[in-house]
This record gives sequence, C-alpha cells and structure tokens, in this order.
Amino acid sequence: MYGNDFGPAADAPRSDVMDAPLGRVDARDLESDFQAIIDAEGRIEPRDAMPDAYRKSLIRQIAQHAHSEIIGMQPEGNWISRAPSLRRKAILMAKVQDEAGHGLYLYAAAETLGAERADLLDMLHNGKQKYSSIFNYPTLTWADMGAIGWLVDGAAIVNQVPLCRCSYGPYARAMVRVCKEESFHQRQGFEILHSLSNGTPAQHAMAQDAVNRWWWPSLMMFGPPDAESPNTQQSMAWGIKRFSNDDLRQRFIDMTVPQSEALGLELPDSELRWNAERGHYDSGKIDFTELFEVIKGNGPCNAHRMQHRRRAHEDGAWVREAADAFAAKRRTTTDASPTAA
Ligand SMILES: [Fe+2]
Ligand SMILES: [Fe+2]
Repeated sequence: MYGNDFGPAADAPRSDVMDAPLGRVDARDLESDFQAIIDAEGRIEPRDAMPDAYRKSLIRQIAQHAHSEIIGMQPEGNWISRAPSLRRKAILMAKVQDEAGHGLYLYAAAETLGAERADLLDMLHNGKQKYSSIFNYPTLTWADMGAIGWLVDGAAIVNQVPLCRCSYGPYARAMVRVCKEESFHQRQGFEILHSLSNGTPAQHAMAQDAVNRWWWPSLMMFGPPDAESPNTQQSMAWGIKRFSNDDLRQRFIDMTVPQSEALGLELPDSELRWNAERGHYDSGKIDFTELFEVIKGNGPCNAHRMQHRRRAHEDGAWVREAADAFAAKRRTTTDASPTAA
C-alpha cells in the first residue's frame, strides 16, 4: 500500500477505497486506508486521504521549519561583508543562499497540504507561528560562523536525517536534499574552527569562546526533555517523528565529543564523560528555563530578528507584485494563442 500523487501504474494494486464509487466512501474507510499506509511504512501523498489533525500538525511543523530556514539567514548574513577572505565570503554566501533554498522547498511542501505561503508568512510576522529559538542568539565574532556551522547545522542534521523517512512524501523528499546541503554546512563550520583553533592564541581563544556560547543552545535545539514534550507521541505514531528528543540529543553529543577533540576545543560541560556501561557520553543538566524564555520572546535577538524580517518582507512587496503581474500577463498571452495541434 503506497500513496502516490502521480497516479498508480496501470498494473499497480489499488486500494478498494480508492476504487469505490463516489458517495460510498465513508470517513472510517479513509481513516483505515491512511492507517494502513502508515503501518506499512508507506508514504502519504498530497491527494491521499489523511486525518485533519495529521494535516494540521504537518503544516505547523513544516511551516515552523521553513520559517527557521529563512530567519536563520540573518545571524550569518550579518558576517558576509566581514568575512576574512574572498574564499570565506564566497562559501558563506553560498551557505546563506542554501538556507533560502531550504525555506523555498519547505514552503512548497506545506503548500501541497493546502496551506497558502502568504498566510504562513503572515503567521510568522504576527507571531502566531514560531521559528527555531537558536536564531535568537547574536553572532559576535567570525568564529561564530564556525560554531554555527559545526554545532547548529550539525544538530540540524541529527534532527533532520530521520525526517527523510517521514510518512509525508513531499516533506521527506525535500529533506533528502536539505540534509545533503546541511552536511556541507557542518563541514565548512568545522573547517573554520579548525583553522582558528590551530592559528594564533587569540584566534584559538576566539574559537573557544564561540563554542562556549553555542554549545548549550545547540543542545536545546532538540526540544524539551521527552517527559515534557507533548507532541512527540502522536508524531511518532504518525511516522512523522522517528526518534525522541532525548535520543536525538544523545546521538548529537556522542557524535560531537570526538570532533571537539579533533578540533582541540573544549565543550563547556564539566560533567561530560564516557559511560562505558551505557555506551554513551554522560552530560550535565540543561537549563531549559533559558530555552523557554527565548521561546517566549525574551531571547537576546528576538525583537531584532522579527523587525528585520518584517522590513525585508515589506521591501520585497514590489517583487511579489511584479511576479504576479508577469504571471497574469503570461496567462492572457497563453489563453489568447491558438493551441498547437
Ligand atoms: Fe538549512
Ligand atoms: Fe544549514
């Protein structure tokens, strides 16, 4: 059983529900058809029947993800004009541009669920939808470009690789490309920190300071502890989420500690040590009160990020109007021209 928006091949087995005459399909059949696709680890496609709550939950998650991608352009865009070399500038520009592309794929994926992109942006601008709290921290030095790439994009990869197997087809497919690009982002961050860490004592200190500031916020990117994560269970039952917040966080810690040793930089947690019995690193307690403050809008850069985003949206109004006018003109030209035989 497999949902397919492009229509099944002629010999493909079809579900009885899809073959039933109109009017004979009741909500219960559609729901069991949906559940059967989920149970068989198949993909739900835009034209498949799906429970309203599944659609709503996906729109919320994909929109929040898309918003995070485009807001995430700000802290790094801040350093494009101050990158220390032409090579670094070209790489950073490409990275920030990738994030715009990620936003684009994700807004397009949300549109396949019936959401309007303009409405989603309105909800970002009026605060009804959130973006990842990590982007509410400031980027104080060039080393922050390294720490963001290594830790923030690194945490994003751990969070997002399982989404390539998410039950909703368009989201899963978007994530395959996003993850490939995120892996480039993570390596470029590591490389920046590697150069700084092995540079002058002042450069090493700058790299260490950036890691000290970004480590704990990057751990909070995995969300609240499992016991306080109300959406996790339903999301896992629907095949949207594959692993719990705490499992993903542990995976990130286990992956990052050896990398920090290769960099010659310390992670700012005195309780971090290998636990042979568990086969994982133990780590110190995360201060989630800080995360909740940032989510409430009290982070160091919340107001600035939103102000900048609204202004960029207003400044871009003429581009949207021009694109609409061009599309309307093309429609009239196409309608007026005779159809080719
Ligand atoms: Fe991204
Ligand atoms: Fe990225």
